[in-house]
Amino acid sequence: MKHRVERLREKFAAVKIEGFLVTNQENRYYLTGFTGSTGVVLIHDGAPVLAVDGRYREQARSECPFCEVVEAKRLWPEGIADLVRERNIKRLGAEGGHVTREAWGKLEAALAGVVLISVPGLVETLRTIKEPEEISAIRKAVQLVDDVFATCLPALRVGVKERDWALEVELALRRSGADRAAFDFITASGRRAALPHGSASAKALQTGELVIVDIGAVLQHYCSDFTRTVVLEEAEPWQEKLYEAVLAAQKAAIAAIRPGVTGGDVDREARTVLAESGYAEFFTHSTGHGLGLAVHEEPRLAEGVETILEPGMVLTVEPGAYLTGRGGVRIEDVVVVTGEGAEVLTASPKEVLLVVG
Ligand code: GLY
Ligand code: MN
Ligand code: MN
Repeated sequence: MKHRVERLREKFAAVKIEGFLVTNQENRYYLTGFTGSTGVVLIHDGAPVLAVDGRYREQARSECPFCEVVEAKRLWPEGIADLVRERNIKRLGAEGGHVTREAWGKLEAALAGVVLISVPGLVETLRTIKEPEEISAIRKAVQLVDDVFATCLPALRVGVKERDWALEVELALRRSGADRAAFDFITASGRRAALPHGSASAKALQTGELVIVDIGAVLQHYCSDFTRTVVLEEAEPWQEKLYEAVLAAQKAAIAAIRPGVTGGDVDREARTVLAESGYAEFFTHSTGHGLGLAVHEEPRLAEGVETILEPGMVLTVEPGAYLTGRGGVRIEDVVVVTGEGAEVLTASPKEVLLVVG
């Protein structure tokens, strides 16, 4: 992880800082390997300083041997201010997007003589391009969910409650080695399938309903994110038409991914194809997002996003269409941007609307 710290330091000159405080949990782990829930990292021209409270002193030392581990009782703001003064840092950057206004004010007051500068997205930008080890970790998390979905699909049947099936999936993921669920699972059936983020409820599944299932696991710190839509026992023509339209949009978006295009370009492609079937107005969210240590990270595949895609970015592609009162369809795969295009990591079938139960 030392090389990541080095790459971060190379960015200091452009934003005119001599040191940078990292408070976000994923960013902290990315730079140091420290897995505790609290702690502050000070990156400067010496060894990174990892400041923790007494609960984490030994853990920090063993997880982060290249850091200078400091134990501080009153870390924010006094402990941090002492560290900064001892290192004679005069221009200090911090993650404005991850520090509350109140905490920022306290630190600023304790840092007399030091300019505190909000530098958003510094580590997040580094994290957008995954290293080969990170891609292989995400690949494993994606495979785990593919396998668990196949195992749990026979249990998705008429009479079962949405939340009971979601619990089965979570147990199966944990039994298969996942650290935890990546988010609260979505199992949305019938009219509820028109809710893009309808958390699994006590509703029982019924014949003829579309069911959107959106599940994901964290495995060795990296996330997967997966959605399939199925129908229970029998499909009606409108459901098949809706599914085919969303599938065409999803495939078109994947085909549009290559180095040099923007997140906005990919989003536009999905919307254009969905518009051809008349469903554009029912696609009410963005086309996808970066995936890694967090389930939602940069870059976004959304309207107006100018971030240029580069090899090594890992993205979800997940258009959907939602008809109020009737149901909806979403299909979500994880892809990695390659030199020429996109490799799809998700292997679960999606070619036809699957009839289950
Ligand atoms: N599971 C949340 C999402 O697909 O973004
Ligand atoms: Mn999802
Ligand atoms: Mn997603």
